[in-house]
Amino acid sequence: MKKYVVILFILLSFGNLKAQIKFEVDLLQPGATIAPDMYGVFFEDINFGADGGLYAELVKNRSFEFDQPFVGWLPFGDVSIKNENPCFNRNPHYVRMNETGLRRGTGLENEGFRRIGFRENAAYNFSFYARSLDGGQKKFKIELVSSKEEIIGREEVLVEGEEWKRYSVSLTAGETDAKGKLRLVLETPGIVDLDHISLFPAETWKNRENGLRKDLVEALYDLKPGVFRFPGGCIIEGNTLETRYQWKNSVGAVENRPLNENRWNYTFKHRFFPDYYQTYGLGFYEFFLLSEDLGAEPLPVVSCGLACQYESTECVPVGDLEPFVQDALDLIEFANGPVNSEWGKVRAEMGHPGSFNLKYIAIGNEQWGEGYVERLIPFMKAIREKYPEIQIIGTSGPAPDGEHFDYLWPKMDELKVDLVDEHYYRSPEWFLENAKRYDTYDRNGPKVFAGEYAAHPQSRDNNAFSAIAEAAFMTGLERNADIVRLATYAPLLAHVDAWQWKPDMIWFDNLSAVRTPNYYVQQMYARNSGTYVLPVTQNGENIAGEDGLYASAVFDEGSSEVVTKVVNAGSLSKDIFISLNGLQAPLNGERVQIIELHSNVPEAVNTLEKPNTIVPVPSFVEAGKDGFTIKAQANAFYVCRIKIK
Ligand code: AHR
Repeated sequence: MKKYVVILFILLSFGNLKAQIKFEVDLLQPGATIAPDMYGVFFEDINFGADGGLYAELVKNRSFEFDQPFVGWLPFGDVSIKNENPCFNRNPHYVRMNETGLRRGTGLENEGFRRIGFRENAAYNFSFYARSLDGGQKKFKIELVSSKEEIIGREEVLVEGEEWKRYSVSLTAGETDAKGKLRLVLETPGIVDLDHISLFPAETWKNRENGLRKDLVEALYDLKPGVFRFPGGCIIEGNTLETRYQWKNSVGAVENRPLNENRWNYTFKHRFFPDYYQTYGLGFYEFFLLSEDLGAEPLPVVSCGLACQYESTECVPVGDLEPFVQDALDLIEFANGPVNSEWGKVRAEMGHPGSFNLKYIAIGNEQWGEGYVERLIPFMKAIREKYPEIQIIGTSGPAPDGEHFDYLWPKMDELKVDLVDEHYYRSPEWFLENAKRYDTYDRNGPKVFAGEYAAHPQSRDNNAFSAIAEAAFMTGLERNADIVRLATYAPLLAHVDAWQWKPDMIWFDNLSAVRTPNYYVQQMYARNSGTYVLPVTQNGENIAGEDGLYASAVFDEGSSEVVTKVVNAGSLSKDIFISLNGLQAPLNGERVQIIELHSNVPEAVNTLEKPNTIVPVPSFVEAGKDGFTIKAQANAFYVCRIKIK
């Protein structure tokens, strides 16, 4: 006996006899199918995410339609704003330049969105609409100017004729500079009118005109999102009904899409952005096209006739909702209708005769109260009648619990919406505590769309701890894929010099972008989503927080792999044996691919200067007969893939 006690003591002191942690994946109990579009992205024009961000236009206030028409511009010489006989009737302002010959110059500088980023040897497409008042030829000098006030690119444009015409020229930047500007100088005496002054990098995503910033779309593409929710958020509601997002204003010729204010301009007193507007250059056509490029299901959100309830009580009387309902029906026609339908024709004329295969539509964003329910009803009636195949998404309000949530969920169930949008911006601790949230949800009602969520640490940074908390929570989404159909982190993009809200998934400046640890969590889920759920348990229980551990598992039919996700949100590293029960053949020696996202420092972040502090790291382990062991470090998320026969 004494001998055994001594042996036990020796083993313990060498740490070899830790209580074995064993997770059991049951291969014989296939669970819910994982919808291929389950993990996606939510785009909103917040934090200069569209104009100044994803939309590659470099000129701010290109049509002089901001309330203060020279915002973004530095006019010099004799330059004035006019609107008689405009070039574009829905954006009627333009500038008149009068060069008397006595001045040293008449022109304009544009500061861009927190300046303009230029890359050495890159080409830039400059254009404007112009007319010469006396019809005679007028010469313009177009210059790319560096932050040191040096000219790093120059070309000329000759304007001729009394009618409005488009002129364009390509410039090449001689230097890289993140904080440049654009200058135009009228060199010939006389009067010239100019409008829609635009500068795009020649290289955009797929090199499209009116294109999107390539590096940002690449970041989205690399996520492999299944669904793409757009265009917001609160911006679809507007601070007032007049400033709500109206999709019809965002299609057709880009020059004639009327400017709208951005709802995030004055929202936060400490983050004040009087120069935040929406040109709609990135409009609904571009959103649908981007969804298609990304391989994601488009999921548009439309106004239900309530302005943002945080900001206003303005609403459309229920009896007057018809034009709003018609907008929703027309949107479905714009996306899917034949080319000979009114709105299908608009889509076709913009370059996409084929359907965008729209399957979802969300009515309202974070609405609450009876006022929402009574407005949702006519939308549902009309959409069900005309487009019964479209899935309708209702909301449960701005929070994951509380009065509005408790009122709306049963109402959504009663109305039989297809999905209910839930939003949760909560602490990382909340995310860790709520991994079981959906284990007990009613399986017979509508499905859940986790439409906006992010763990908000006190610092509001996208740090390692918040990412791990989200990964832990998402094991609960995956385990409950029968009820949770879609999930999209929020917000997506933020300009480092012009943000209103954080944390955000991807940060950028005028030249580059950084993917946060939270981005990588989303990517690890989306790229490893599998085909159907497999139960994974410890001592017969779901693994959802006991000792800081979380897990979910899926089977991927395409690759015949079991994919197990494990989160260790505790403070100690742990060896975990993952047992695959029900194997038809032993695994002996099979390679297990492990992807690890980890940081010893919970507050650690990725920055533009150091973008790779926390990134997924691949490695391999060898499986034993019926499973494999992973060393799960503290504050880490793992995806483990193993092929089975
Ligand atoms: O994601 C930022 C904002 O958060 C969204 O616009 C809104 O829906 C939520 O309140």
